[in-house]
Amino acid sequence: MRILGLETSCDETAAAVADENHSILSSVVSSQVELHRPWRGVVPELASRQHLENLPGVVGEAMARSATTWDRIDAVAATTAPGLASSLLVGVAFAKALALRLDKPFIAINHLEAHLFSVFLAPEAPDWRDAFPLVALIVSGGHTCLVRAEALGVYRLLGRTVDDAAGEAFDKGANLLGLEYPGGPAIDRCAQDGNPKFMAFPRSRVPSAACPPGLVPELCFSFSGLKTALLYALKKHPLSADVGRVADPAHEPNPKSKIQNPKYTDLAASYQEAIVDVLADKVEKAVRREGVRTFVAAGGVSLNRRLRERLQRVAASTGTRLLLAPPSFCMDNAAMVVALAAAGQGLRGKDAMALDVCPNVDWG
Ligand code: KG4
Ligand code: ZN
Repeated sequence: MRILGLETSCDETAAAVADENHSILSSVVSSQVELHRPWRGVVPELASRQHLENLPGVVGEAMARSATTWDRIDAVAATTAPGLASSLLVGVAFAKALALRLDKPFIAINHLEAHLFSVFLAPEAPDWRDAFPLVALIVSGGHTCLVRAEALGVYRLLGRTVDDAAGEAFDKGANLLGLEYPGGPAIDRCAQDGNPKFMAFPRSRVPSAACPPGLVPELCFSFSGLKTALLYALKKHPLSADVGRVADPAHEPNPKSKIQNPKYTDLAASYQEAIVDVLADKVEKAVRREGVRTFVAAGGVSLNRRLRERLQRVAASTGTRLLLAPPSFCMDNAAMVVALAAAGQGLRGKDAMALDVCPNVDWG
């Protein structure tokens, strides 16, 4: 059995092929970062047009790399929710059309659940059947949430952000600091040389009155005040106009253009510390509260080196096991989509065919 999976929920066009053991036979990701960089954020209309252009090539490459012919495909899966409506639509229409043409079932996959499942793609990961119950932190550009997973497909949302997602906080903070888009990797790199104690940025709490019904206030997040605090900090410590541009080594070929203002790296490190501190603190609270022996972190922000370090410390202090996705499967990809489908998850068949994309769905 082979499944083809597509992912187009945001700005990555991705396709992957898996076999019945949810082994990934190929995974192709075409990033649109360069397209959106001038706008310092994803422009939905550009993203969906680019998906349309990229998909045939990306799918063809995934099929070729896995040496799969169309007659060997037994199902086609795609992310149907949550994400940018127009981007989801392109991938879902493509996948449904393929399924119809091949006369095979279409499988609808939830993007957040796929991120959770990405931790089981690590070679050293335990079999997913032995890992539950667990607590999952999903941290990406669009989502920040804590979930208790009783089993695959059985979830209880514990907390989520009431405003910006953690990745959004990184991206907006990097923008204020004049760093390249996407901001998460840029701040991560820059913070390496900075002092995280240079400035005490606020660690916002979510009061009960602001907590969405049914969720735990102390497990909810708020990051919107943080960027305002950075804005004021930058007014207090003005940086030269080009300092942001020259501070990003990945995009600055001139080795002489090192960071000229040390406060700049200190601010980035302190800002990152505030985000990571809140994430690690709430994960620890959730792990203790839920009494689980395993917790996982997934999504683009889980690539952050400081966060990975802090989560390892949470595992040590709580005597629990931490599972992280392999770096290549932290950002959006189709391997996690197709692996989840191969594990039996996702709505399939007629019901899935009738399903529309859903930009805002949470956990069931
Ligand atoms: O999971 P993802 O590819 O897309 C969504 O589903 O939203 O996550 C993208 C986010 C961006 O906000 C990006 O800045 C952030 O992940 N990110 C990072 C790092 N690498 C990517 N944030 C912090 N540190 C990183 N190293
Ligand atoms: Zn994602």
